[in-house]
Amino acid sequence: MKITYLGHSALLVEGGGKSVIIDPFLTGNPNSGVKPADIKVDAVLLTHAHGDHFGDCIGIAQANDCPVIAPVELANYCMEHGVKTVGMNIGGSHQFDGFKVKYTLAFHSSSLTVGDRVIYGGEPAGILLTMGDKTLYHAGDTALFGDMKIIGELNKIDLAALPIGDFFTMGPEDAAIAAQWVQAPKVLPLHYNTFPAIEQDVDAFCAKLQEAGIEGIALKNRESVEI
Ligand code: NI
Ligand code: MN
Repeated sequence: MKITYLGHSALLVEGGGKSVIIDPFLTGNPNSGVKPADIKVDAVLLTHAHGDHFGDCIGIAQANDCPVIAPVELANYCMEHGVKTVGMNIGGSHQFDGFKVKYTLAFHSSSLTVGDRVIYGGEPAGILLTMGDKTLYHAGDTALFGDMKIIGELNKIDLAALPIGDFFTMGPEDAAIAAQWVQAPKVLPLHYNTFPAIEQDVDAFCAKLQEAGIEGIALKNRESVEI
């Protein structure tokens, strides 16, 4: 499984000839440096509806003629915009062609703002994405919560991608606890330094992980890690 960081919480994940993008916030992300038109994928996966995750989802799904896989209410919103969708919900998993998706809890909110309307985006979620014998846990936006221990007990997670930005999600201290609770040997920090409110010292976070015997992998935009 090859994981490429596209800034904020966006990951391109490739394996076994398939590729998916999670939370494709590219346009409007000051750090992305990637054009939606350059993204070639078999599916777009969303953790929740907020604009810094939903991002270029519709355009990428249209250009690739691929489905958007999302919490069901968010999938329904996407369907109204003319893309193929698969609406799932927390606790549910599905084996797609070449990859498996399981939706997990996340403690956050989920809505879209369209003009002066606020649209309910379904429950926010995390994603367990399995390709071959490797599993990535993308926590989405979330607070630290105790059931992360259960997620860690029930799944062999090879890499956990965790928000560390604080303010809207866990900060680095809680994320370091989450890393231990989900029993991940490697952690990729997400959701930091995109905006002033979520500036963090990622090197200090990785040093804290190292004390717990966990490898912190702070990828720069468009850098990849193979697990
Ligand atoms: Ni959010
Ligand atoms: Mn967010």
